[in-house]
Amino acid sequence: MNLDTKKSDPAMDERLQSRTIVLVGLMGAGKTTIGRRLAKTLHMVFVDADTEIEAAAGCSVNDIFERHGEPEFRRGERQVVARLLKEAPHVLATGGGAFIDSATRQLIKKKAVSIWLRADLELLLTRVQKRDTRPLLRAGDPKEIMMALMAERYPIYQKADIIIDSVDGPHNTVVRNIIKELTDYYSKSQS
Ligand code: S3P
Repeated sequence: MNLDTKKSDPAMDERLQSRTIVLVGLMGAGKTTIGRRLAKTLHMVFVDADTEIEAAAGCSVNDIFERHGEPEFRRGERQVVARLLKEAPHVLATGGGAFIDSATRQLIKKKAVSIWLRADLELLLTRVQKRDTRPLLRAGDPKEIMMALMAERYPIYQKADIIIDSVDGPHNTVVRNIIKELTDYYSKSQS
C-alpha cells in the first residue's frame, strides 16, 4: 500500500484485497473518482457499474432511460452487478440507485464490503452540474430532485458496512479515510 501515514502490513493488504469493495451513494458523491484512486492505492482493478451496463446495452445510461425506462435500467443494473460480484475482488463504483434496489443491496451485503460515500447537498450539486449524463436530474429542478433523493435514500445508504464523508478537497484524504475504516472493519471482524 502506498500511503505515507501508514507502514505497510502485508497481511492487512491481503485482507483488504480479498473482497470486492463496493462504493455506494448519490450522484456526485465521487464514487468513480475516489474508486479509481482507491483501486490504484490498493493495487486492485477498478470497475464502474454504469460503464459496464452501457457496454452490455450498447448505449448510454441516458438512452436506456429514454428508450426503455427506469425499471428496465434497474433490471440490467441488477444483472450486471450480480455478474461483477462473481468476478475476482475489485473496487466497484455503483450508480446511485443500485444499493437502493433491495435485491442488488442484498447481494452486495452478502458478497462485498460496502462503503457509503456521503456528501452534502452543495457538493453533490456542484459536481453533477458539470455533466448532463444523469437522466433522473433532467426531470425537474436538480436541487429539489437531489433533496428528495437524499430524504428517500439516506436511510438506505446507511445500511452500508462503512460510512465515509466525501468532502471537498484532495481525494487522497478521502482515500486515506476509507483505508483506515476498512482496516478497522477487518481488524474487528478478525477478533
Ligand atoms: C442513478 C445514478 C447514476 C446512474 C443512473 C441512475 C441514480 O449513476 O446509474 O443515472 O438512480 O441515482 P451515478 O450515481 O454514478 O451518477
